[in-house]
Amino acid sequence: MQYKTYENTCDFESVKLKYAIENGDALEVLSGMESESISLIVTSPPYNIGKSYETKTSIESYLQAQENIIGELIRVLSPHGSICWEVGNFVDKGEIFPLDIFYYQIFKKHELQLRNRIVWRFGHGLHASNRFSGRYETILWFTKTKNYTFNLDAVRVPSKYPGKRHFKGPNKGKLSGNPLGKNPSDIWTTIQADWDSEIWDIPNVKSNHPEKTIHPCQFPVELVERCVLALTNEDDWVLDPFAGVGSTVLAALKNKRNGIGIEKKAEYCAIAAERVKALENGCLKTRPIGKKIHEPSTKDKVSSIPNLSNYQRETTRI
Ligand SMILES: C[S@@+](CC[C@H](N)C(=O)[O-])C[C@H]1O[C@@H](n2cnc3c(N)ncnc32)[C@H](O)[C@@H]1O
Repeated sequence: MQYKTYENTCDFESVKLKYAIENGDALEVLSGMESESISLIVTSPPYNIGKSYETKTSIESYLQAQENIIGELIRVLSPHGSICWEVGNFVDKGEIFPLDIFYYQIFKKHELQLRNRIVWRFGHGLHASNRFSGRYETILWFTKTKNYTFNLDAVRVPSKYPGKRHFKGPNKGKLSGNPLGKNPSDIWTTIQADWDSEIWDIPNVKSNHPEKTIHPCQFPVELVERCVLALTNEDDWVLDPFAGVGSTVLAALKNKRNGIGIEKKAEYCAIAAERVKALENGCLKTRPIGKKIHEPSTKDKVSSIPNLSNYQRETTRI
């Protein structure tokens, strides 16, 4: 594999890292990679739902193809490494098949250990009419062994009451929580206003998102950054076998890790390469980690209940 050098001199501290964006089939490229060389794999595989980059097939043959790739991913993963597998639902004739249920069986067959099943909730999406609208996907975080990297301090979230102190007992008067913030627990909250709900609430990448490209299902760089910070150390290698427009590679480089992305569509690889250049030059638009989600004020027109008779007239026209 030919690596490029990433050198960011925009920040106060200059950073030199390596990265590769390989245009090819995941299974083929992985077969040429060194065993146990990768610290973290973060990916969102194709869901087999007929997106422009995939041919829909039966769930059985889809999963078989994925299992062959997963076998190779486990081979290249370091014994201290992690896999974060981000998936939603496969839908067939209106019936939904939550993909994490199927993937869990495959990873367990390969003796990986599940550390968390993280819910990634987003506020917007398609409105279903025959079932409740889907508003979350999941990330299965597996480790290869019991001895894995986990930097909790790097991803702590501020406590709700940081100044709270013990009011009795031997620790009376001392702070009751960790001053660095609280453990985000197995369900992470990253947005200040949503701490109570304890759910990852990172907006989905849709058309009004600063990171949006032509890719139909990009995930936010912010989402990957949380995995990178918690599950790797500086200079480690991070891999995405279904890289799309390079969100994982960006999250790795942005946080002083080396990155490899494999993507079968040349068009997406070209965009990924452009985005890396933009990051290097300090002009890539990403949503800052933990930025508060915009909520319309009650005075905004979109927040007021429309006149129902108008609504009926408008919907009968659709
Ligand atoms: C869900 S998208 C990933 C998007 C990515 N997370 C991002 O933020 O851009 C899945 C990607 O996998 C690619 N893909 C599908 N099968 C592949 C294969 N066998 N080898 C390499 N890439 C593949 C598709 O072209 C698509 O871009």
